[in-house]
Amino acid sequence: MQMKKSGKVYHLNLNKDQIQGAKYVLLPGDPFRCEAIAKKLNIQSKQIAWKREYRTWLSKVNDKSILTTSTGIGGPSTSIAIDELAQLGVKVFIRVGTTGAIRKKVNIGDVIITSGAVRFDGTSTQYAPIEYPAVAHYRVINALVEAAHQQNVPYYVGIAASCATFYPGQERKESFLGFVPRRFQGLTDELRRLNVLCYEMEASVVLTLCSVMRLMGGCVLGVILNRYKDGEKIALEDLEKGEENAIKVAVRAIKILLSSKNGD
Ligand code: URA
Repeated sequence: MQMKKSGKVYHLNLNKDQIQGAKYVLLPGDPFRCEAIAKKLNIQSKQIAWKREYRTWLSKVNDKSILTTSTGIGGPSTSIAIDELAQLGVKVFIRVGTTGAIRKKVNIGDVIITSGAVRFDGTSTQYAPIEYPAVAHYRVINALVEAAHQQNVPYYVGIAASCATFYPGQERKESFLGFVPRRFQGLTDELRRLNVLCYEMEASVVLTLCSVMRLMGGCVLGVILNRYKDGEKIALEDLEKGEENAIKVAVRAIKILLSSKNGD
């Protein structure tokens, strides 16, 4: 939906002129992560919009326009960001997020490149039935893997569980409720046995919507805690380490995609 006269999409408050033909977007959840990402792409990047949780910066890399847009937390706000960016002509979507690992082998600061996501998000089923897979585009996966190698960031490629809530849906007893509803008790162990690597809240929406809309989607998630080893607590330095590595890999992946044969 566009506003009359300005042609701005309603929630992102952006129009086609402002994004200068951008085909690529990096998608952090947190609006306060946009500036660091955009300036890593190019120090001269500029903020072009900020409405609610949606903050957008524009960067130039090799004369190409690249956006960084925050999605807010969770499925509904992420779906709006992707839908409206697609309306403006963006084609490649890379989520740059954080995650809680559920497997012993995964360490804080590693990144998880999602090949697919379990659709516990509660939003993506309004774009495609639950049987539809949430899978990343192979070119985005390849670029993220190459980027992790180049940056010497340890990585895993695999499946994330994208949940509609941070607390009960990720089996956290620390919720105000103080208990986990029965349907989520034992979920973490079940997901481990199903070869799922981590919990987060947006990947399945990015991947499902991109596939449905014939766009290229992928996610890189910085590990900020390990539920197997650390329980439910997150340390500030671990958050920073996870974020920093995910940003490093995502920014390099954009440059790899731009320099590839089909980089246009
Ligand atoms: N994000 C989540 O959704 N869960 C975590 O445990 C960490 C980050």
